[in-house]
Amino acid sequence: MSQAPAPAHIPHHVAIIMDGNGRWAKQRGLPRIEGHRRGVETVRTTTFAARDLGVKMLTLYAFSVENWKRPQDEVGALMGLLEYYLKKELETFVRDRVRLRTIGRTEEMPASIQKLLRATMEETKQFTDYTLVLALNYGARSEIVDAARAYASAVAAGKEKLNDGSWQSFSRYLYTADMPDPDLVIRTSGETRISNFLLMQAAYAEFVFTPVLWPDFTKADLAAAIAEFAKRERRFGLTSEQLKPTATSK
Ligand code: FPP
Repeated sequence: MSQAPAPAHIPHHVAIIMDGNGRWAKQRGLPRIEGHRRGVETVRTTTFAARDLGVKMLTLYAFSVENWKRPQDEVGALMGLLEYYLKKELETFVRDRVRLRTIGRTEEMPASIQKLLRATMEETKQFTDYTLVLALNYGARSEIVDAARAYASAVAAGKEKLNDGSWQSFSRYLYTADMPDPDLVIRTSGETRISNFLLMQAAYAEFVFTPVLWPDFTKADLAAAIAEFAKRERRFGLTSEQLKPTATSK
């Protein structure tokens, strides 16, 4: 029997590209929205599965800046599902001490959703053990543009030095300013693309691609991805030898 990875090998922050809702529905002769509906159930189960497995932060790619170009009825249905989900989950988040956060241009989301997001974030902001981050109207390229603009304003206002040039300073202007980088990025449905998701933050992340379609993704699939992560050697640009503890002379 395979053993669960030691706590030191559990990724602190897991980010997931939830893919395959449409194909899941098509395989069953159902409308695409049925796949998304089932996808919301998986969002729920995965939120708690990740916490059970020792993950501290879970980021889910729920709606990309490109997703607005989908057929209008699908976009409308996704917004409807998101609204339904937020209304239903607020109580659960409070009860189970889940902090909700968002990344993305949420100011362009429908007003009703913005209102629910604000209320949920406000009610859960005191929870520190576990955070669910929804990427909504998110795109990494838009994020860089927004960060560059904010950084330029800060330089103009004399709050930042133009010749600082450090990632540490610039990254404070990303949506993820006070979040740790993802350690593990998972994509479901067999696609092996990053699709404009956390391009900068995933610089040193490990990637796991699974053929499982998002509506079928289970706690066991998440545990398998974490077990795969635990086997990898993360070098952050160093050599394998540099990472090994050296024998110290007495
Ligand atoms: C990809 O499947 C999934 C999405 C574009 C959105 C994910 C949305 C949900 C899981 C539901 C809403 C989210 C929340 C947080 C309530 P796809 O449609 O691209 O699948 P396909 O590639 O098989 O067509």
